[in-house]
Amino acid sequence: MIADTRTREYQARAMKVMPGPQSNLRMPINIRPTFIERGQGSHLWDVDGNEYIDYMIAAGPGILGQSNPEFIDAMKAQLDKLLYSVSGASQTPMEVDLAEKLVQTIPCAEKVRFLLSGTEAVQLAIRLARAYTGRRYFIRFEGSYHGWLDNVLGGLVHDNPADNPFPYEGEGDSLGTAGRDPSAFEQCFYLPYNDIETLEQVLDRRGHEVAVILVETIQASGVICPKPGYLERVQALCEKYGILLCFDEVVTGFRVALGGAQELLGITPDLAIYGKAVSGGLPLAVLAGRSDVMDLLLGSKVVGAGTFNGYPLGVSAALATMEILQRDDGAIYRRIDDVQAKLVGGLAEIIKRHGVKALINSVRGILTVHFTDKEVVWSMKDVTPAETQMSHKFRLCLANENILILFGGRWLISAAHTDEDVDRTLECADRAVARLYL
Ligand SMILES: Cc1ncc(COP(=O)(O)O)c(C=O)c1O
Repeated sequence: MIADTRTREYQARAMKVMPGPQSNLRMPINIRPTFIERGQGSHLWDVDGNEYIDYMIAAGPGILGQSNPEFIDAMKAQLDKLLYSVSGASQTPMEVDLAEKLVQTIPCAEKVRFLLSGTEAVQLAIRLARAYTGRRYFIRFEGSYHGWLDNVLGGLVHDNPADNPFPYEGEGDSLGTAGRDPSAFEQCFYLPYNDIETLEQVLDRRGHEVAVILVETIQASGVICPKPGYLERVQALCEKYGILLCFDEVVTGFRVALGGAQELLGITPDLAIYGKAVSGGLPLAVLAGRSDVMDLLLGSKVVGAGTFNGYPLGVSAALATMEILQRDDGAIYRRIDDVQAKLVGGLAEIIKRHGVKALINSVRGILTVHFTDKEVVWSMKDVTPAETQMSHKFRLCLANENILILFGGRWLISAAHTDEDVDRTLECADRAVARLYL
């Protein structure tokens, strides 16, 4: 029996005063509610003292794990020194330090702007691109998430914005929402990912009207990598039609490499968005890019504002995170690689032993088990609804073993995960896989 007395009490109180948890895009950890009270390294404890191994790490930010002593000390020192500043009216020295470090680290970054969330940074990128090109439309791809605002949330794939193809909400659209401005989708073409022919056809007709192509280079949902040559071709098409290329590195930034997927894949876009892991658990997002585009923010030609932009604690959190990640020539990344290799190897062995057809998509710091007999998954469309159901079931079977992975079956590895965590995880995964077909 799982202890849940206090959980039930909190749930009863919560239901009276809140419309559910603070995001209703992410499914709960488990079928039962969970109130997490404490974290240490890669482990979490709920209000009833149940202990979990955490592969959700706040959906990305927790790259250092909970309670990293060096990070916490840096935050305490910053709180003692300066709590707030007035975004826009004055600046802090840390802001300059961080901007310099990011410009040295992120290949496309000639200039950077700080914001609070990936959602906001995406919108600023679109606004800047429109101002720079004088064009109206943007392109985004199926299976990518770029925040929760009207113009980027889910929808139905379409190659003509005038069709406004989200006539209904929810149906056929896993990220549908009521209350959306009906004209929001008229701003973009929403195309299949990893499908260069469709992109070419659309650009052939409408390329001169497109301001920016937003690409989540490695789609976090499903850990979908670009086909060989795909991004190079996308970039060449951007050059041909005078379109800006923007990588959404909110998940990949600081995770697959300090410079993000653009460093890993060797392709430098015009703009890029970083968030989540950048500041090790505190809110901060970064829009990085070419000076001639970013400089439109000088003198308010393009407005990019926010009360908390560049707030001292977030900026010092990003500086501390970078310092820790860069130390010893990226020793933490090598440790993440080792832990992940052991986890992936162990999961692959369990899957094989149980005779389950599955494929593990894994890049540094992030992995997903797809329950498919395909040899490669180039798009979430390649995964059938029945296979997706298996992923959900696997996640719940793991949650019942107190192993927490994200909705969609995503595992995130942090600097705090240990070999012992992996050993225990694999024991639990063995039982979870055995239960999959019951
Ligand atoms: C790829 C990607 N872009 C943008 C966002 C939005 O970032 P935020 O939740 O910080 O607004 C997310 C969030 O999960 C994301 O995964």
